[in-house]
Amino acid sequence: MEVVVRPDVDAAVDLVARLIAARIEAKPDLVIGLATGRTMERVYDRLVALGPSFRRVCSFNLDEYVGLAPDDPQSYRSYMRQHLFDRVDIDLANARLPEVDGPDLKEVARRYEADIAAAGGVDLQLLGIGETGHIGFNEPLSALMSRTRDKTLTQDTRRQNAAMFGGDPDRVPSRALTMGVGTILDAREVLLLATGEHKAHIVAKAIEGPITSMVTASALQLHPNCKVVLDEAAAEALQGRDYYDWVFQSEPDWDDFR
Ligand code: F6R
Repeated sequence: MEVVVRPDVDAAVDLVARLIAARIEAKPDLVIGLATGRTMERVYDRLVALGPSFRRVCSFNLDEYVGLAPDDPQSYRSYMRQHLFDRVDIDLANARLPEVDGPDLKEVARRYEADIAAAGGVDLQLLGIGETGHIGFNEPLSALMSRTRDKTLTQDTRRQNAAMFGGDPDRVPSRALTMGVGTILDAREVLLLATGEHKAHIVAKAIEGPITSMVTASALQLHPNCKVVLDEAAAEALQGRDYYDWVFQSEPDWDDFR
């Protein structure tokens, strides 16, 4: 894992967006795993401004709420159209989210995994982190080898996401279909962005704490090609900061991104 700390949110977002744009430039038919949430809104704004072509890109979102119609404004499909898909030249047939309106969620999950495999696997997986330490909607105690399935959200996550539901946690669906931790770890490269002091405590646990299903983001320590980008506020509780900064300053891989 490599940890990069930027001075503020804008710089952290800019780095993540430039990394994504560089990967698309290097491989125009990139298979990208996408995330939603407030942190990603700024990444998509910046990415749209950078202007890479998504014409041949294929995307798979991490998750979708169960119980909302696909055109519900709070669905993650609507979120993705608003923040990215309708602003770039992606072919919507190649922009996938779990289709949770069918009766058989196990079958939907099985097909999602099969579709990712048929696309050749995910080249680059973009992630946020929830205050429960989740990646995707892999809440505490999710198996670290889990695959795509439906999960019950914690009350903390429902409270965290209430802003998008008029501030009422009871309106946040209680279930979601999510890629599993194992599905995420299969990606060839992982890029996690966290910003803000409210994430500092869980970020330190995920990066420097023990690997535990109580903090599913800690499983990223097992991934051979994982980058974590933080702003100063989210990095506040890290112990190994000097080393992380030194690696960022000296590794040639980061030459184009400093
Ligand atoms: C979203 C997702 C979640 C979010 C996480 C952080 O698709 O899978 O793991 O990335 O909850 O959300 P924000 O950015 O709103 O703090």
